[in-house]
Parts: sequence; C-alpha cells; structure tokens
Amino acid sequence: MRIAVVGSGYVGLVAGACFADLGHEVVLVDNDERKLAALRQGQVPIHEKFLPELLTRNRGTRLQFSDDLKQAVRLSSAVFVAVGTPPTETGEADLSYVESVAREISGAIDDYKVVVEKSTVPVYTSEWIRRIILRNGADPERFDVASNPEFLREGTAVTDFLYPDRILIGCDSTRSAELLREIYAPLTGASYYRRAEAIPQPDRALIPPPLIVTSTKSAELTKHACNAFLAMKISFINAVASVCESVGANVKQVVHGIGTDSRIGPRFLNPGIGYGGSCFPKDVMAFRAVAREHGYDFGLLDEVMHINEDQRRRFLRKVNNALWTLRGKRLGVLGLAFKGGTDDIRESPAIGIVQSLLQQGCKVTAYDPAAMERTRELLGDQIGYAHSSYDAAHDADALLILTEWEEFANLDLNRIRQELKYPILIDGRNLYDPERMSAQGFTYYSVGCGASHPDGMPTAVLKNGKKA
Ligand code: UDX
Ligand code: UDX
Repeated sequence: MRIAVVGSGYVGLVAGACFADLGHEVVLVDNDERKLAALRQGQVPIHEKFLPELLTRNRGTRLQFSDDLKQAVRLSSAVFVAVGTPPTETGEADLSYVESVAREISGAIDDYKVVVEKSTVPVYTSEWIRRIILRNGADPERFDVASNPEFLREGTAVTDFLYPDRILIGCDSTRSAELLREIYAPLTGASYYRRAEAIPQPDRALIPPPLIVTSTKSAELTKHACNAFLAMKISFINAVASVCESVGANVKQVVHGIGTDSRIGPRFLNPGIGYGGSCFPKDVMAFRAVAREHGYDFGLLDEVMHINEDQRRRFLRKVNNALWTLRGKRLGVLGLAFKGGTDDIRESPAIGIVQSLLQQGCKVTAYDPAAMERTRELLGDQIGYAHSSYDAAHDADALLILTEWEEFANLDLNRIRQELKYPILIDGRNLYDPERMSAQGFTYYSVGCGASHPDGMPTAVLKNGKKA
C-alpha cells in the first residue's frame, strides 16, 4: 500500500518507519527543511531505540522523504496526519497545523483516499477535517476521514508501535475501515512477527494485537481518555505518596499492595516528581477544555493537574529541608529528559525543577545520557554539563535524581559518596531503597517515604513536606 505520513516528529517518523518495515511504500512529509535534509543524509533527529535500524534498512527503498505534500497525497491511498497539536494559552489543542494540512490535501484528491488522524486531537476534529477538505473543492465520494490514535511511548516507540496492546481505528465507512485493516494486516495477521528481521518482541507482547473498530468520534475520545486516565493514575499515586510521607508509611509497600489488585494493576503507579512530556500535560488540558466546550465540567482533571504541579513544589521543599538555605549551594542533577529512554525535554519536570533551583541561586551541574544537547539549546551556560553521574556529583552539596534512567538506579554509591561534599541524595524517582541508602551512609530523601539518615541517626517523619 502507498502511504503518506505528514509530520516527521516523534509520532510521524516512528509510524512512517514502521509502516515501511511492514512492507508499505511510505512518503514521509515535513515542512521543516533542516529535518528533511538530516533524514535524507541518514541522520536520526530523535533518540529512539531500533529507529536507526528501521530508517537504514528502508531509506531510499520503501521510505522516501519529501516536502511536497500534494505529490505525496496523489501517490498514496492513505494519508496519516501527524503534525503537532500544541496547547493554546487556554489549554485547547491548537489545530491550525492540522487545518492547513487538510486544506493542502484537498487539492490533491484525484482518486479515493483515506485521511487518517494520527496526532492526538479533540473529538469532532475529523468532522472539521472533512468540512475543510470539502470546502476546498474535493469530491465527497473520493475520500473519507478516519481516526487511528497512536499509543506509543517515547523511549519505547518502535516496539510500542509494532507490538501494541491494541490497534484502534475510528471509521464511519466500511471502505475506510477495510483500507486501514489492510494497512495493519501484517500485524493483525501476525505475518510481520514471523519475519527473521522483525524487531524483537518485548515482554508481555500480545501477538497478534487485537484490532478495535469504532466510530471516529469514539476513537478520538478514547485517546484523550486514555492519556487522562494514565495521568490520573500517576497523580493518584503521587497523592498517596504525600499521605505516606505525613503518616510515616512506605509508598513502595502501598504500591505493591494496591498494584496486585488485578482491577488496578501495577503499571503507572510510580510516584515521583510528576508526569511531563509532549502528551500528558497538553492532552489532559485539551480533554478538560473539550469536555467544558460540550457542557461537561470535568473537574477531576483539574485536580490531576494540580497534584502534578504540587509534586514539583513538594520536591523543592525537600531540597530546602535537606540543605536549609539554597543560595550558592552546588547541586548535582541526574536527569533532564521528561523520562528515561528519550532525549525529549518538552514539559520535563526535571527542567522545571532545575529552573526553580537556578532562580533560588543554586549552582547546578547536570548529567543526562541523551538530553544534554536539547537542554543546552534551552538553558545554555546557566548550568554546567557533566560527563557522567560521578562528575555531576563532584564536590556537590547534594545530588538530585530527576529522571528515571536505568543507569541512575545502578550507580556505584561508594564512588558517589566520595565525589559528594555531603552524602545527601534527594531522589525524585524512587530509584533506591531508603534502608540501603542509610546503610551506605547517605541522608536519603525520596517520594512517599520518610527521609532516612546514615545508620544510627534518627529517621525524620515529614508533615506536609516539613520535618515533624
Ligand atoms: C504528535 C502530535 O503533535 C501530538 O498531538 C501527539 O500527541 C503526538 O504526535 P510529535 O510527533 O511529538 O506529536 O510532534 P512533533 O515532534 O512536534 O512533530 C510534528 C512534526 O510535524 C514536526 O516535524 C513538524 O515540522 C511537522 N509539521 C508541522 C509539518 O510537517 N507541517 C505542519 O504544518 C506542521
Ligand atoms: C504517553 C503515553 O504513555 C502514550 O501512550 C501516548 O501515546 C503518549 O503519551 P510518553 O509521554 O512518551 O507516553 O511517556 P510515559 O511513559 O507515558 O510517561 C509520561 C510521564 O509520566 C513521564 O514524565 C514519566 O516520568 C511519568 N510517569 C510515568 C510517572 O511519573 N509515573 C509512572 O508510573 C509512569
């Protein structure tokens, strides 16, 4: 099948490369000439496992890059729209890029095509896309608009796309549903997984993945509801962690207790400094806004956002508790990306906390395995950029863990303690065990557990983040 993917960002690039690996002829379109040039030269503009391999083995054969959207549409039966849908000032999704792409597509509909929403968009967007395409002169019989939300996570995007929990397509015509079924047939029919060069199967993969067909509106809403529910689950466990801190309970034990309930499940119950990234923050806001627009006051989502913002404040209070005054303090920071496994710093809680610490007069030296360049573009020389975790800890008053990179959970703690001026570690991602840390001679703060001190020193119970 000939497929065009418009927008070569985190979602578009991964989707395009995976569609090509499934055997389809793919044109990846983008209006960012620099990005296109980099992709044509073999560069990979984002940090994603397996993506370099997919691009190398499909570039120039089943995968082309182009800035000519109309040409790409004419050549294709399906056009996936994966351009940005950033939030507006008031939290709605800004759909102006989607609209401009729809307008351009209209002029290139010379035979039957399905226009597919891949970006996360509010309910009713498909109806607007159809209206814009008709308004610009396309024949109503020659196209359908469908929704095919993407559930991939950054850092595991390629395996999430190829081994999804489900494939969701929202279609209002049999013809468009048939075409999308055909596109995903290598996965739903399992033929892809029988190939020698298939991307390795992750744990828990469901093969073949189920294909769910709904109306376009239900599919659009499902995506917002999914992200809002996951964000709510994170905010819920962060709220529980705050109660644990006040009463001296251990959130890890609580998570185990509730996560083993099959109705709840253990995933997305990791307390920390809050969720970030290009999706949850904007999608929770956008879902809140679209519900309000249609007469439903989804107040629960306000609390999800409030708890998330409060997590950062609570973490900063812990830094204050550990160091008393902050002006002039040297802090080592591990993690800048919004989560482990990616170079993406969009809406990163780590960056937010670093900026607050700079405002309070701290000197910050940070290390991140992948997000240094993107951080340097944002913060320049406001912070120091370390070569390693140990370099970041060197001569610091305390070390902060802000992103859940696996390598930060396996540090040589003796070496860290030797590098630090004071053995103080403030962990915003609960990568270590308080008892182990005090046995190793650290004063250790984490989320949802009282502070622990080197063996022999009293353990403090924090009331509202302050020592009781
Ligand atoms: C996208 C969607 O924006 C988001 O709603 C969804 O939640 C995830 O997928 P992402 O892939 O991260 O997010 O977006 P981004 O990395 O910003 O990439 C968008 C790409 O579209 C960029 O490369 C941009 O250059 C391109 N673009 C944007 C176009 O080609 N044409 C446009 O008119 C606008
Ligand atoms: C998310 C959704 O998971 C994905 O389905 C959707 O397509 C895009 O948005 P992503 O933003 O890449 O994916 O990352 P995710 O792994 O969901 O993490 C989001 C944020 O939540 C990160 O900041 C992460 O650190 C945080 N998080 C995640 C927690 O704080 N606790 C958890 O238990 C899980």
